[in-house]
Amino acid sequence: MRTQVAIIGSGPAGLLLGQLLTNAGIDNIILDRVSKDYILGRVRAGVLEEGMVDMLDRAGAGERMHREGLPHDGFSLAFDGRDHRIDLFGLTGRRVMVYGQTELTHDLMDKREASGGSSVYEATNVTPHDFDGAGPYVTYEKDGVTHRIDCDFIAGCDGYHGVSRKSVPESALRTYERIYPFGWLGILAEVPPVSHELIYANHPRGFALCSMRSHTRSRYYIQCALDEKIEDWSDDRFYDELRRRLPAEHAENMVTGPSFEKSIAPLRSFVAEPMRFGKLFLVGDAAHIVPPTGAKGLNLAASDVYYLFDGLLGYYADKSLAGIDAYSERALKRVWRAVRFSWSMTTMLHRFPDTGEFGQKIQETELDYLVSSKAASTALAENYVGLPY
Ligand code: FAD
Ligand code: DHB
Repeated sequence: MRTQVAIIGSGPAGLLLGQLLTNAGIDNIILDRVSKDYILGRVRAGVLEEGMVDMLDRAGAGERMHREGLPHDGFSLAFDGRDHRIDLFGLTGRRVMVYGQTELTHDLMDKREASGGSSVYEATNVTPHDFDGAGPYVTYEKDGVTHRIDCDFIAGCDGYHGVSRKSVPESALRTYERIYPFGWLGILAEVPPVSHELIYANHPRGFALCSMRSHTRSRYYIQCALDEKIEDWSDDRFYDELRRRLPAEHAENMVTGPSFEKSIAPLRSFVAEPMRFGKLFLVGDAAHIVPPTGAKGLNLAASDVYYLFDGLLGYYADKSLAGIDAYSERALKRVWRAVRFSWSMTTMLHRFPDTGEFGQKIQETELDYLVSSKAASTALAENYVGLPY
């Protein structure tokens, strides 16, 4: 089999890139090791920057998002028993869109099916070969048969645990990493959100985040220890802990109800450089991970796709290598800005085991400065809505 671009991974990065290529008449195949249903069962991000919204529109998959997504003009920072609104739109003229990663993935899968794009799910042993030479190809197994796809380029969109980054010789890769000493325990419940905007809360008992998927579906998170076990967290215990970390007005107004999803995610910052090795490109989580506090993980996948698609389009339309050659540097510049922002939000809002009451006071002082200075609020808002591509 032969294609122009072999895409490993059918998450948001792979699906978005695949759709833009298909729309531009560039042949591609997407391979994923799990099933469509498994991918759609993962509950992950919920906040889209305008850049991501534009990319979905370009892919022709934005229609339901515009209908069902919730544009948000601001969010709250809660600390010291009070709530402070960050007026994203007033400070930057831009807003974010609350629309779940699950829905966006669904829309991209539907669009791919409608446009006849080829995808192989439950493909095992997917392996990129010879990306340093003239004839790259990918092999995989399906139903006991080994297949080979020859291609011009391989896009490694296979997430942090994928095979693409691991196929690059260690000596060619530089990695940077920080592991945080806590995780997030998250639930999804069919209850109206406690507030019409997101609340990011700093509290001596730990961080909390009140988010949503719709006017009737809430997504709540609390900071937890890394060794916490889901079984020890009944819904009642979760809501009690969440309420203790919120200002009284929100705690009193919270509507509770049974959760239908509950999971713990560790927090990590990670970057692999460069993001290109000959004819193999790393895209999205395959190249970098940010802690979820800044809502940047999914949005970075979109900006990587933007730069890579631009490079591939230049190659196929004009035989130009300039965009492909610039991909890693352009993507990494924006990645590092988001890594810095996510780290700073995480540091400002979470309880760290070793910083004590001094650390808490410093955080509250920083937050107080942030909400009382227009310059500081603007810098926060500018990063949160997303820096330009
Ligand atoms: P992924 O979505 O990980 O997709 C990679 C795809 O590659 C998967 O479908 C996988 O099955 C496939 N794959 C992996 N290995 C192979 C292989 N060997 N062969 C073939 N296919 C393979 N971000 C936020 O902004 N906010 C959040 O609240 C948030 N919560 C998160 C919670 C969790 C548990 C995780 C893991 C991430 C979270 N993120 C969040 C980050 C965000 O979801 C990711 O940044 C986003 O999914 C990145 O998209 P991607 O397409 O690069 O990778
Ligand atoms: C959500 C997750 C985040 O990490 C965040 O910063 C905001 C919202 C969410 O899942 O809704």
